[in-house]
Amino acid sequence: MNGSFIARLCAAISMMLVVCASAVAEEAEYVIRFSHVVAPNTPKGRAADLFAKLVNERLAGKVRVEVYPNSELYDDDTILPTLLLNSNEHFAVMAAPSLSKFLQFSEMLQVFDLPFLFRNVEDVHKVTESPLVEEIIAPLEEKGFKALAFWDNGMKEFSVKADKPLRVVPDDFQGKRFRIQNSNVHAAMIEDLGGMPERLPFRVVYMSLNKGIVDGQENAWSNIYSQKFHTVQHWITVSDHSYLGYLVVVSNPFWKGLPEDIRGQLEAMLREATLANQQYAAEEAISDRKKIEEQAGGAKIVELTAEERAQWKQATQEVEKRFAGEIGPELLQRIHSLLDH
Ligand code: LMR
Repeated sequence: MNGSFIARLCAAISMMLVVCASAVAEEAEYVIRFSHVVAPNTPKGRAADLFAKLVNERLAGKVRVEVYPNSELYDDDTILPTLLLNSNEHFAVMAAPSLSKFLQFSEMLQVFDLPFLFRNVEDVHKVTESPLVEEIIAPLEEKGFKALAFWDNGMKEFSVKADKPLRVVPDDFQGKRFRIQNSNVHAAMIEDLGGMPERLPFRVVYMSLNKGIVDGQENAWSNIYSQKFHTVQHWITVSDHSYLGYLVVVSNPFWKGLPEDIRGQLEAMLREATLANQQYAAEEAISDRKKIEEQAGGAKIVELTAEERAQWKQATQEVEKRFAGEIGPELLQRIHSLLDH
């Protein structure tokens, strides 16, 4: 046996030990796959990563959270049914789809899609941090979901590829197609503004804008920036017309089956991630707008005058009336009094 053979053998053994050690470290009794559709450097992506980091450090060997961003695992259309089907006692899929994507499971959640109801994210928090929230999420629990936390992205802005920005309604929307999420409220809003809605999953939005399949879209600043929508659009109108936020959900049977102490610790870590998410969202709404503003050759940003904004509001005021029956007139009334308008 020569020296170099012994050295190679030792190296191989120590490599095996490292591999074995990391396999042991990664073993866990419960595994949660957190699937989402946005980039890691967004308020949702960062909060999901933080939650995974906290869990993997504090509950090592008991619970492991793996994060799959950018629709790598499941996309908008498949995530919610899959989450229910694929979970068992020791394995669960967790997700934070936008509130608009729960239509199939809750008509009440459509309230968060209404245009010009929430003036800003603080208005939304008045609802999500009120006792009303228990009523809003109750139908989801009956359908097999455990609703764990509301996460923010921010207010949405419109963008378009056109000769001029979207200012005058309906003229500037006419003849143009706008990508929307799978939301009946969004479809009604686009029609009332004068445009044509096109429901498309998030993962194909950049391609659809780039190829001219749609002329425009509406989204929060961090999604516009991280998906580079501004590089294939000419104008962004600061419309702040509605809110983009998420509900973190997991299978209810999985959640209920967890030992109580583990469930309590996971809830506490989700609260930490939720606070961080709110901070990331507030920061990125400013910083991502600024990055777009500073990027030469990208979309130009225009502000609406108070008069133009009032016209947009008036053009879409029937949307709420049309959906009041599905959302619940009483819930709407209580939200209006909570928001004082
Ligand atoms: C969208 O589809 O535009 C958003 O819901 C994507 C997301 O999750 O932020």
